[in-house]
Amino acid sequence: MTFLLRATLFLLLCSAPAPAQDGATLFKTNCSSCHDAGIARVPPTSALKTMFRSTIRQTLESGPMKTQGAALTSSERDAVINYLGVPDKAAAAAPPPTAFCKVQKPFSASASNRAEWQGWGGDASNSRFADAATAGITSADVPKLKLKWAFGLGEGPTVRSQVVVGAGHLFVANMTGQLYSLDASSGCIEWTFDAGKRIQSSLVFGAVDRDGKQSAVYFGDAAANVYGVDASTGKLLWKVQLDTHPAARITAAPILHGGMLFVSVSSIEEVSAGSPTYECCTFRGSVVALNPATGKTIWQTYTISEPPHPTAKSDTGIQKRGPSGAAVWSSPTFDEKTNTLYIATGDNYSFPATSTSDSVLALDAKTGNIRWATQVTPGDVYNLGPKANGGGPDFDFGQPPILVSLPNGHRALVIGQKSGVAFGLDPDAQGKILWQTRLGKGGALGGMEWGSAADRQNMYAAVSDLSTASVPDPSSRTGSRYAIDPNIGGGLYALDLATGEKRWSALPASCGDRPKCSPAQSAAVSAIAGAVFSGSEDGHLRAYSTTDGKVIWDVDTERDYETVNGAKANGGSMNGAGPIVSHGILYVNSGDGLWGGAPGNVLLAFSIDGK
Ligand code: HEC
Repeated sequence: MTFLLRATLFLLLCSAPAPAQDGATLFKTNCSSCHDAGIARVPPTSALKTMFRSTIRQTLESGPMKTQGAALTSSERDAVINYLGVPDKAAAAAPPPTAFCKVQKPFSASASNRAEWQGWGGDASNSRFADAATAGITSADVPKLKLKWAFGLGEGPTVRSQVVVGAGHLFVANMTGQLYSLDASSGCIEWTFDAGKRIQSSLVFGAVDRDGKQSAVYFGDAAANVYGVDASTGKLLWKVQLDTHPAARITAAPILHGGMLFVSVSSIEEVSAGSPTYECCTFRGSVVALNPATGKTIWQTYTISEPPHPTAKSDTGIQKRGPSGAAVWSSPTFDEKTNTLYIATGDNYSFPATSTSDSVLALDAKTGNIRWATQVTPGDVYNLGPKANGGGPDFDFGQPPILVSLPNGHRALVIGQKSGVAFGLDPDAQGKILWQTRLGKGGALGGMEWGSAADRQNMYAAVSDLSTASVPDPSSRTGSRYAIDPNIGGGLYALDLATGEKRWSALPASCGDRPKCSPAQSAAVSAIAGAVFSGSEDGHLRAYSTTDGKVIWDVDTERDYETVNGAKANGGSMNGAGPIVSHGILYVNSGDGLWGGAPGNVLLAFSIDGK
């Protein structure tokens, strides 16, 4: 090459537009410190790589990674999104005409009085137990359960929202914001409603007002909005935002009692705190009582009474704020006898620590006033920032307390914590701790997660203890990457309601060589007389005998399905919501790609011999 040519080339290169941003490098600089570090509650990069680009964009621009996304220019964001995400499919086609019901079942006037699984816990006490009238099957029928139909829940790696049944209709929501009303027996579509925002919360079905003529489905979204949607038409009745904090979200199903709708408010501000310039933290958990007909607030009670204020400054001059946290991740439990709501809270996000984090609180249902609080882990301050700003174990309560009657006529609240410890509390003695039993190791995704179940004898608690491990990966610069650990987690326990003694335990199954597998049992547990159901991150849903914990039914949901709505769908890991059993059908979601498990997007309905 002559000198002249080289010089011209040099000039040409210099005047050419800047090379496209390298997404991989940008990811390494801005995202790897969390996503490639094996930190609990941070999805590993391999999980992000299963997500659609549009989902990642939404995450970075208006979702949980908004703080992280704001640190990039828009062309840098594009580069990271293109590097990370799966190209979007053409806009999801509308369901074919065959997916819709030919005739829509009429709504009966007394819709909310039928024996059906109409909310998160199946009943006011959050027992997740279906009696014979509700379940419509017995434990002797369980081994005969076969797939009746499958319904594709739309694109995306994870399904979270638990289904409910009301007046013979099935309601289900997905992570892209669609709410469907289906015929509960055939799965044909009656109507759809588009919330336009990710729906992570579960649903509740019930009467709009006391005359019971109109019924509605209520749920929340990832921006802390609550919706009331007419159950017979899919028309929006009202929508209200319960908290304007940018990190606030609703994960729990609301509950309906005594003409009031009670909604728990949570947040992911712990994640925002991972940004070095974030002034951590200002969100406080709360429960809000609403008028179900109008969405008007009757009362709102914060789990921390003191509003956040500036506290110390960090070494780099960033203002810290507090107190904060004590989010409410799970549904309230309603005590008809004393008109009390019981709620369970998460950790504090910043100092000072408060006396109501990692606690069970009792609230007067009429006024929202706190009657008592029992804290089980004091001083648990946790966020994704430097250890000095927190360092706590992150032992939230992710599940609601279950109100049970004991053989001696007393009552108890039983609940499992992310610490791996299950508790029995006395609701009639200011929440005094009656017993505590360790079942798991505990951790940020560990211990007991979304929900336990109880019958008249036992509490049934499944252990998550989901973990990540470093696995060899020659394609990575470091030669390894973080992935879900196939050897840690899982187990189901039956505990005596009165003493917390272990009646039996069922060890988790081995993952064998299944990829993206963990034995963790994070999903909520459900029960009928004689059988308890527990979904696993290994993709199986198993039923255990309540007598001795033996597996009496086992279905592997991790496969492709032909669906009644003609959508392409597959099952995967199970997490979050649990199965419900209502009028002879067991319904369950399958698919959880968020923590590195197997992605999936299907709703399954099982019945005796699939009939
Ligand atoms: C401070 C730690 C941290 C950093 C830095 C970080 N993330 Fe995250 N990210 C998290 C956590 C924690 C979650 C899980 C949030 C949740 O629970 O919803 C998450 C979730 C996500 C999700 C999935 C969201 C969902 O809920 O489905 C995506 C996509 C994502 N991050 C992308 C990124 C990208 C791209 C970057 C860099 C620009 C980044 N993250 C930087 C901690 C971090």
